Order: sequence, then structure tokens, then C-alpha cells
Amino acid sequence: MCGIVGYTGPKEAYPVIIKGLKRLEYRGYDSTGVALLDGSLKVYKKKGRVAELEDALVGKDLHGHTGIGHTRWATHGEPSDVNAHPHQSSSGKLAMIHNGIIENYVQLKQDLINKGYRFKSETDTEVLLNFIEEIKNNNHCSLEEAVRVALKRVTGAYVILLLNTEEPDTIIAARKGSPLVIGIGKNEHFLGSDASPMLEYTKEVVYVNDYELAIVKPDELILKNLGNEKITPYVQKLDIELAAIEKGGYDHFMLKEIFEQPQTIFDCLRGRLDTIGETITMSGIQQYADQIMKANRIVMIACGTSWHAGLVAEYIFEELCRINVEVEYASEFRYRNPVIHPGDVIIAISQSGETADTLVAIENAKAQGAIILGVVNVVGSSIARTSHGGAYTHAGPEIGVASTKAFTAQLAVLTMIALKIAHNKGTIDQERYVHLLNELSEVPSKVATALKLKDQIRILAEKYKDARDFLYLGRGYNFPVALEGALKLKEISYIHAEGYPAAEMKHGPIALVDKDLPVVVVATKDAYHHKVVSNIQEIKARKGKVIAVISEGDSATAAMCDDVIMVPEADEIVAPMISVVPLQLLAYYIGVAKDYDVDKPRNLAKSVTVE
Ligand code: M6R
Repeated sequence: MCGIVGYTGPKEAYPVIIKGLKRLEYRGYDSTGVALLDGSLKVYKKKGRVAELEDALVGKDLHGHTGIGHTRWATHGEPSDVNAHPHQSSSGKLAMIHNGIIENYVQLKQDLINKGYRFKSETDTEVLLNFIEEIKNNNHCSLEEAVRVALKRVTGAYVILLLNTEEPDTIIAARKGSPLVIGIGKNEHFLGSDASPMLEYTKEVVYVNDYELAIVKPDELILKNLGNEKITPYVQKLDIELAAIEKGGYDHFMLKEIFEQPQTIFDCLRGRLDTIGETITMSGIQQYADQIMKANRIVMIACGTSWHAGLVAEYIFEELCRINVEVEYASEFRYRNPVIHPGDVIIAISQSGETADTLVAIENAKAQGAIILGVVNVVGSSIARTSHGGAYTHAGPEIGVASTKAFTAQLAVLTMIALKIAHNKGTIDQERYVHLLNELSEVPSKVATALKLKDQIRILAEKYKDARDFLYLGRGYNFPVALEGALKLKEISYIHAEGYPAAEMKHGPIALVDKDLPVVVVATKDAYHHKVVSNIQEIKARKGKVIAVISEGDSATAAMCDDVIMVPEADEIVAPMISVVPLQLLAYYIGVAKDYDVDKPRNLAKSVTVE
């Protein structure tokens, strides 16, 4: 949460920073600001989005070749001009931006108040900044040294970028727990929460690790640990193109990303799934295949949509591999003192690879001897680097805050892992294995067919957009799809929606059913189909409105429902990748019909790097 950008080099810093902030706005968008160094320090910040700051700065002095910028998702202190970053130190000589939370800021603040410091904002960031300045002044040391000393005394998570009027071309940066990428240009450096702000300038980047500090000048990048020892930067090549982070003619990133799914699922399968040779090649899994096969249990750890992918995978792994699977919310798992045995296999699922709870949960499990496999989208991200092995989802940058293409790519990867392990372990017969390989290979084209329903779904969205609540039901593999459909609707349209296993309805939620309640039932053809049909009847008997996602040609079920969305039939193991698509579109079109900003829904941020 919060996006940070920095630049030092021969260019004017402001345009680089503003463009970078627009690309990072998905990380938080309640206030924004920049600080520019040009002999003097200029700080401009305000509540609202980057475009609003840009408008407000027309005609201002924006000159400077070194600068930092921030787009905020509020943690300490409401979104306001004064709480926006950058913050300035008491002397006015330092400016700092921060992504993360300083947990012991109350104590630090009190100590500083006792020493005479006064604070303008309610933020933990201003406290850390003045703490650093206090150390610098007291110890008569460099800013770099003061940062090092300060960071040894703070608890929590951070990426910080600092400007100092005494070193006009230098940015001091440090990280623990929140992401930081440094792009290397010709006599210039770029800093960002991810690589998107620097894509058109360089393909060479360094991912800064926890407890590292960077001294960044136009022609020099020095990395050190908190013990003041130099570290050789590990330079990596980016393989993201600029087009991947632009809307490409779509009204919103979310719509673009929904429509990219045939390609992203294909990209995810490509080079791994071989229907002719009847093999699945995943080197990051193969290394741990023995341990996975012998595992007493697999624990899937994730949050949000990624957790829903884990739930689908639970069904698939238990069915195909006959291994006990538990699916855990990372935020609960990390604080619960869970029993972990050496040899337990943890699969961490994350689009961003930076979700704080997931990251800490796997670090804890790793320390206790578990094998950590990451199913991650963002290459080089913290979760990917913390994992022993795993597989990237290759869905490309996902910018819409509501996760769509990442979910289907996660399912594709998890299905391949399950099939590979089941085949190695002999818990699937050859005929079913080959059938499922073929089913998987057909998913991209079936998703493309489902996407053709967009106009029909747009009309449905108009019809139901004023409903106050929605219920989403599904059984078996489609139960997590119902959860995911409800989450998408909540996020994008701010309509209360609950997902339930269809049979659980009778244990409470059925009390909600009346003529005004739309109930979305995911009822594609599978082993439980006749049971779900009974649930549809129960809703109709109470005058609920049923919108059903059913398999093409299922006219018997269609006849019972108020509205139906027909998707191509598929084996139940791969069906969630197809049946979720109309639910993504329904949420999207309802959000658009209600005139909401679907790419940046209120209160949310794409990457949850605070717990
Ligand atoms: O990056 P991650 O997959 O770890 O993120 C997990 C959740 O924060 C994420 O799925 C969130 O629930 C999305 N907004 C869902 O659309």
C-alpha cells in the first residue's frame, strides 16, 4: 500500500515522478505529493488523486533534478493535505516518503515531544523522520548513518526515501517488508514500489532486500546492510513492455484484464503443458516433487482472491493427489502459532508477491522447516524470493484493484501442479490424466467464448444494479467461484454480497431470500449439479430472483431461473476458470452502471503491504 517514486539524474525529476505516481496509483490513492531538490527543497502535497495534484501545481516552480513522490493509502491519520507525504523534518532540511507502518511510533513520538519536537501531522512517518533528524543532529553524523541507527530502533515495515538539502543529488532509501526497485539508467537512477515508473527508461533493475540501505546518486548506486557493509547489487533484466501497463483502448484496466484472460491462461500453460507428449514441465516444482508427494499435508496460504484460488486448489489436490490440504488466511495463520512439521509443504498464493501477511506467514513457516512454494505473478517480488521453489503465473501486470486475470492464472498453475504430482504419485489413471491435460489446454478458447457474453451481462447489470444485497451460491469446485463473484461485486459496486456453499443456505442465509434478493447460482454441469438445481428450486419457492451460470445447452435448469448465463461445458476441475468470467463481468458492469471508479474502488489498494 502506498506507491513511492524517486529520480536522480539529468532529467527534470517532476515529469518522471508524476508519470510514475500515476502508474503506482493502484497502490493507494487518497492523497499524493512530491518533493523536489533544486538548491532548495520544494514540497507540494494534497488530499486526492495524482491528477488533482498535477492540476494544482500548474504554474508552480517544479524545477529540480532530484525528487521523490508518494501516493498514499492512509494508515495513521485521515487522508488530508497535512497527512499526505512527503513530510519535512523540523529543520526543514529533510523530506521523506514512506510505505509501511512504524509500530513503535507512539513511544518514539513521546520521546521526541519530551525533547521539544512538535508535529504537524498524525502520521508515523513524520515521527520516524524527526527521529532520524534527532539522531543526525545529536551524533553529528551523516544522514546515511542516522538512518541506519534509527532503523535498528524501529519495529514495523517500511520503504523510505529521503532527500537532504545538504546532499542535493542524493536519495537515501531503505526497506524492510515493503517493496523497492531501483532502475539503473545512464547517469541516472529511478526508484519505485515496482518497476512500472521506469519502464520506458531502463530495463536494468535491482530489487532491494529487507534490511538494506541504498545511497542513490545519478552516477552511483551503493547498497549496504544495516551493519554498514557494502553489498554488490544484483542487476536483473526486466521483461515487461510498456504496453502491458497501458489500457490499450479499453475503458478500464479491469475490463482489459478480464479480456486478456484467454491469452494470460495460454501464456501460463505455454511451455509447461504438453498434450502430445502428455507431460507437465515445471522446474520450480519438479525439484520439490518428492517432498510434495510424501507430504502429510499441504497448506495453502493467501488472502482475498488468491485465498479463493487456494480453496479451488484444495478440492483439486485432495481429489487428484489424495493429499490432505488446508487453506489458511495468511493473517490468521501468522498469529495463530500453527503446528508446522519439517516437511510440511506450504503453497503461498499471491498476485503481487508483496502481501505483508502472506509474506510473514511463509517466513514463519520457513523458519520452522516447511518447504515453501510460491504461486506468484510478479517476478522478483518478495514472496517469490522468499519461497524455495514454485511457479510464476505469467499473467502480466494486473493494475485494476479487483483481481481477475491473476485468479484464473493461479488456477491454471495450481491445476498443473496437482496434475503433475498426481501423475508422479500414481493417484490418477492415465486416461483421466490425459483427459484433464486436454481439458486444461482448451480453457483459453472456452474463456474466449464466455467473454462473448459481455453484452448480455451488461444488460443484466442494468437490471440488477439497484439491488441492495446479493447472494452467491455454488457447490464443490464452484463454491469458491461463488465467493469470488461476491468479493468482486462488493469491491467494485459497493453492494453487499455474500458467497455461500449452496447447501449451507438452509442453515441461515435462506432467511434473506425474498422477491428483491438476486441470487447468483453457479450451476455448471458437475457431480453435484442435481443438488444445486434443488437449491435453485428452494430459492424460487421463496420468490428469490435466480441468475444462474449454467453449462451451454442446459435448458432444463434454464427454465427454472429468472436469468441464465450459459458458458461452455468443461470438466469440473477446470470449470472455475470459465464460470468465474461472467461473474467478473457482472461486477464490472454493475460498477460502471453505478458510475464508480472500478479500477480504484474506495478504501482499497492493490498491494496490501501493511498487515
Ligand atoms: O497480491 P495478492 O494476491 O497477495 O493480494 C491478495 C488480496 O489482497 C487480493 O486478492 C484482493 O482481495 C483483491 N482486491 C481482490 O480482488
